[in-house]
Amino acid sequence: MSDGDGELEARLVEQEEFEPSDEFVEQANVSDPGIYDEFEENWPDCWERAADLLDWDEEYETVLDDSNEPFYEWFSDGTLNASYNCVDRHVENGDKNRVAIKWEGEHGETRTYTYQDLYREVNEFAAALREMGVEEDDVVTLYMPMVPELPIAMLACARIGAPHSVVFAGFSAEALATRMNSADSEYLVTCNGYYRRGDALDHLEKANEGLDDVDHGVEATVVVDRLGDDSFGHDLRGNQHDWDELVDEQRGERVDPVERDAEDMLFLMYTSGTTGEPKGVKHTTGGYLAYTAWTSHAVLDIEPEDTYWCSADIGWITGHSYIVYGPLALGTTTVMYEGTPDYPERDRLWDIVEKYAVDIFYTAPTAIRAFMKWGTEFPERRDLSSLRLLGTVGEPINPRAWKWYYKHIGGEDCPVVDTWWQTETGGMMVTTLPGVGNMKPGSAGPPLPGIDARIVDTEGEEVEAGRAGYLTVNKPWPGMLRTLYNNDERFVSEYWEEYSDPDADEWVYFPEDGAKIDDDGYITVLGRVDDVLNVSGHRLGTMEIESAIVGVEGVAEAAVVGGDHEVKGEAVYAYVILEDGYDGGEEMRGRIIEGVEDAIGPIARPEQVVFTPELPKTRSGKIMRRLLEEIANEEELGDTTTLRNPEIVTDIQSKVQGD
Ligand code: WTA
Repeated sequence: MSDGDGELEARLVEQEEFEPSDEFVEQANVSDPGIYDEFEENWPDCWERAADLLDWDEEYETVLDDSNEPFYEWFSDGTLNASYNCVDRHVENGDKNRVAIKWEGEHGETRTYTYQDLYREVNEFAAALREMGVEEDDVVTLYMPMVPELPIAMLACARIGAPHSVVFAGFSAEALATRMNSADSEYLVTCNGYYRRGDALDHLEKANEGLDDVDHGVEATVVVDRLGDDSFGHDLRGNQHDWDELVDEQRGERVDPVERDAEDMLFLMYTSGTTGEPKGVKHTTGGYLAYTAWTSHAVLDIEPEDTYWCSADIGWITGHSYIVYGPLALGTTTVMYEGTPDYPERDRLWDIVEKYAVDIFYTAPTAIRAFMKWGTEFPERRDLSSLRLLGTVGEPINPRAWKWYYKHIGGEDCPVVDTWWQTETGGMMVTTLPGVGNMKPGSAGPPLPGIDARIVDTEGEEVEAGRAGYLTVNKPWPGMLRTLYNNDERFVSEYWEEYSDPDADEWVYFPEDGAKIDDDGYITVLGRVDDVLNVSGHRLGTMEIESAIVGVEGVAEAAVVGGDHEVKGEAVYAYVILEDGYDGGEEMRGRIIEGVEDAIGPIARPEQVVFTPELPKTRSGKIMRRLLEEIANEEELGDTTTLRNPEIVTDIQSKVQGD
């Protein structure tokens, strides 16, 4: 490293605020600082600006209907179709030859879909779904890896008004069955397999196991053949169809996009909460699509001419909003990559950036921490000069990782947007606007225009700058979830009860995150305050993992907490009490890990399983999770005097730290 570099490095470490370059600001979609006031003064009509990014069949007249809080409705008298907005209108506007999806398989195969190609494929698959009997409002489950057929199936569902429920391909058979049962979903689209670090994975086996546990009749399943000669050779069952054959029968078919009410459900997405049951988050056609299009435009600065890449998996909300709906609504080129960042080498992502001259790249802090660990030689091998903007999402990013990303990926030339949001919010809520505000590493930024986010104490009073409190959102927004599927009561109790005052007509959304705010109104999100873990940016409920462990023969009780992890952010620590007669050895540990993988998937796999005769409990019998977390993190232990069994703490501590 030359001296110049050394100085640069030192300056970066110190620097707390970064300005976007003039060059970026000049070309940015949104660059007028007046936008914050404009939205505030005009609220809720300001949201017409988002809705205007879409084509409506029937123009809406009401922007917000808040007559039945907290069941807000947006643009409720308008009608539209999401598939039309993401596909047809670009074809009609003369962009039929623009690339919609650039797909790259793990082995380097590529597929390119222009908007015209996408139009054809979506229509044919929509016709196939109709032929199979799928009707408007039937929930279609999509249990698929990162293959182009996934966004095609999503858009085909949207075209005929059938909400989709995408289940992340890394989830287990049991997780698939739970979600199909909960949504009463009678149709499944899946895949025979996919590739991970060179190996073909048998996905159909898992899908079939899941289907065996569905409580109701399943009308039909469609199977994409991703593996070809590497296929595991399962025969298709009676009501299972091969994707290609099915679509071949529909060659040339066109299906008119169904006119949907703005408030009609576009999709369901299951996510983890405090209890063991995943929650079916309901998103709607008008508000969600307007919100994801708007944030893609204002925050990701997407232009139709761009090549945009979000490296998330479509099985999570980030992929729904910012691989599929937002970018395609804006008519840009969205990149999809099937595999892992380190296959065949640790420069794979940078190879893709170079190859497609990616303009905008959006990823998660866990990935950035891995890149840092691997070293700068990998990005340095590739030409990353096409990049204009970088983004992160999913968990807090520390200033060191932020600066590494800014310097080694962005070449100190690209703004970095740190975007805070959730499955429930539909799209980004707290982040800088890259063409407007300065960036402060480690802080997401101010709430977006029109978003009223505050940091409060347990009483709901705003806390002083610099003090930790709870993040709340005090006004509704178009992308918000409308309810939890078939469970309005839980929707109100999970998100609204904590801080609302219904008698005073005050409704406050509580995302269950801790945060602090600085004097400039920049928010730093500290992490979940409920029993939800964030492992590699994946949201997992401790209760779900605990119930999987308790389901293992010989386990009496389990407590799961998150321990700090260099790359994953958080890792799963499981403290387990066995029944008499069972031995806490390797075999038991293996069965517990298998139990978790079967119930949820490998992402929830415990990093450590600690066998203990007791768990630290208060006199009223509550497990003291705080202590278990402190032990996992090798922190100094807090107060143990309120424990019924304080002696167990040092015992557990020596087991964990002795490892
Ligand atoms: C966390 C992912 C800090 C947060 C889009 C939230 C973040 C949960 C950030 C939602 C960020 C997301 N900084 N924390 N920029 N973005 N989170 O539903 O705890 O999978 O509640 O949605 O991730 O996770 P979910």
